[in-house]
Amino acid sequence: MPDRVRITDVSPRDGLQNESGVIPTSRKVHLVRMLAASGVDEIEVSSFVSARWVPQLGDAAGVFAGIAAEAGAGWPVLSALVPNEKGLDAALEVNSRWRRDPSGGLIGKVSVFTAASETFARKNINAGIAESIERFGPVVRRAHEAGLLVRGYVSCAIACPFEGPVGPARVADVALRLADIGVDEVDLGDTIGAGEPASVRRMLEAVGVPVERLTLHLHDTFGRAAGCVREALGFGVRSFDGAAGGLGGCPYAGTAEKPAPGNIATETLVGVVRESGLACGVDDEALARAGVFAASLRGGP
Ligand code: HMG
Ligand code: MG
Repeated sequence: MPDRVRITDVSPRDGLQNESGVIPTSRKVHLVRMLAASGVDEIEVSSFVSARWVPQLGDAAGVFAGIAAEAGAGWPVLSALVPNEKGLDAALEVNSRWRRDPSGGLIGKVSVFTAASETFARKNINAGIAESIERFGPVVRRAHEAGLLVRGYVSCAIACPFEGPVGPARVADVALRLADIGVDEVDLGDTIGAGEPASVRRMLEAVGVPVERLTLHLHDTFGRAAGCVREALGFGVRSFDGAAGGLGGCPYAGTAEKPAPGNIATETLVGVVRESGLACGVDDEALARAGVFAASLRGGP
């Protein structure tokens, strides 16, 4: 049996958070439904963040409500970003209303997020790195008490849109601090797609978290993300994020002239996994349909 690679589709969250037009909740629900049918392992459905900061995802609870009736035991793990305890409270409120089976709530995982760049952390979550990790401590503890898994994102794992290149030691430091507060998984984000296979390898070699607990989250600005996935597979990483249709971009990683770049398309990611002789649970045709629908939600060019 070839090794199995875990695929998380983040298009409903990272893909849509930067859209300026209002996307009706029902269309987001339909995207999640199509992704569930594609056989990905996990779907990052939305964010419980301030709607003033990210207006596009202000309907997070509504999206979960929309899928609650159909999300059964066979569905992928459903997750959401939570920047603080208020966000966790909102996620737990969803789980108090809807359960997918007797043992678990609708949301199976929450994700806290910080960065290896001080400037980016402040612009994105209005807190420095140390302050953000302190804030996450109770979020991780309470999420675990409620039976949820926790992912911890490290943005700017290769470079920062404001500070430039970020050294692997800085990424390693933040990754270990997240591991220390007990996150189950550390997700290394190449927020602006600056990575190349060699820099991704150097970063992975420096990060002291066991490879089984790592996920790689690549944006594909320069068309190099597929090469970076190959390199990371060679290093032993077996969990990756992608966005159907290549949607994506953090609103706090771009400027008006230069919007933040899209995530690696989940379709591309799955192609690289298969070419590498590894397995994943995705149905290519169903994923292609989800990708076409995801792209149709995009307002801009
Ligand atoms: P703040 O302004 O410092 O928050 O924002 P605050 O605690 O001072 O509260 C201010 C107001 O926000 C209050 O409301 C709070 O209730 C409310 P008011 O009393 O003024 O009416 N508030 C909230 N509302 C809803 N949900 C919450 C919440 N928390 C406070 N959870 C905060 C701090 C973290 C909230 C803000 O900065 C924020 O929401 N940031 C989110 C930014 C974001 O979502 N960025 C995109 C995701 S990260 C990303 O894309 C990178 C990634 O893809 C990986 C990669 O590519 O590298 C993950
Ligand atoms: Mg991202």
